[in-house]
Amino acid sequence: MQKIDKEASQTLAHIIASRRDIRGNNFSSEPIEEELLKEIIEAALHAPSVGYSQPWKFVIIEKKSIKEQIYENYKEEYAKSTSSFKERPIYETLKLEGIKEAPVNIAMFYQKPKRAILGQTSQKKMGEYSVVCAIQNMWLMARSLNIGMGWVSILKPKKVRKILGVSKEYKLVGYLCVGYVKAFPKEPELKTLKWEEQKNYQEIVSWIKD
Ligand SMILES: Cc1cc2nc3c(=O)[nH]c(=O)nc-3n(C[C@H](O)[C@H](O)[C@H](O)COP(=O)(O)O)c2cc1C
Repeated sequence: MQKIDKEASQTLAHIIASRRDIRGNNFSSEPIEEELLKEIIEAALHAPSVGYSQPWKFVIIEKKSIKEQIYENYKEEYAKSTSSFKERPIYETLKLEGIKEAPVNIAMFYQKPKRAILGQTSQKKMGEYSVVCAIQNMWLMARSLNIGMGWVSILKPKKVRKILGVSKEYKLVGYLCVGYVKAFPKEPELKTLKWEEQKNYQEIVSWIKD
């Protein structure tokens, strides 16, 4: 394989820094070209996976009635969540999903292994983490194509699996809303709204040197 040049690495850094979580107030209804959707999935297939197990399964949802069922589950789960943030009334003003607004939803499942997986013998979650690596690849590839993606986690995984008619062999890892956007926010919305502060380097990095 050829060496990657500086320009490409700068482009990658730019894509990483400008990726944003996109929610329903920011999706446009413009459909996504199928070739571009395939490029996004292709990016997932290059993700690292424990023991090269590639334990992912994608369900691509465009059907309105299915999105509505997923949205109903979101509403139920959201209602349960509000009591956790009683002292922060801004919580109820946040838009936390784009299920119906995004032209495409992608449910990412983890396929539970039928045999031992190299590298997954001590830490059972490694397969699910591999699916997360695939999701991040998709998120970045989508951003490079000026397509937005948002992760919705206020959902009951089993319910979503049943709505989508997926067997118990699989576990939902991520539910993604995908579509063109009105504008990519410059920084995380939860930073702009002061929900959380950005952590600094000193806080999160420790060195163990000789
Ligand atoms: C595992 C995971 C789950 C998330 N779930 C939600 C969610 O349910 N609703 C939501 O609005 N954002 C969700 N997000 C998006 C985060 O809020 C967002 O990534 C974070 O605020 C940083 O903003 P940015 O992605 O625009 O940089 C999720 C992100 C991750 C990585």
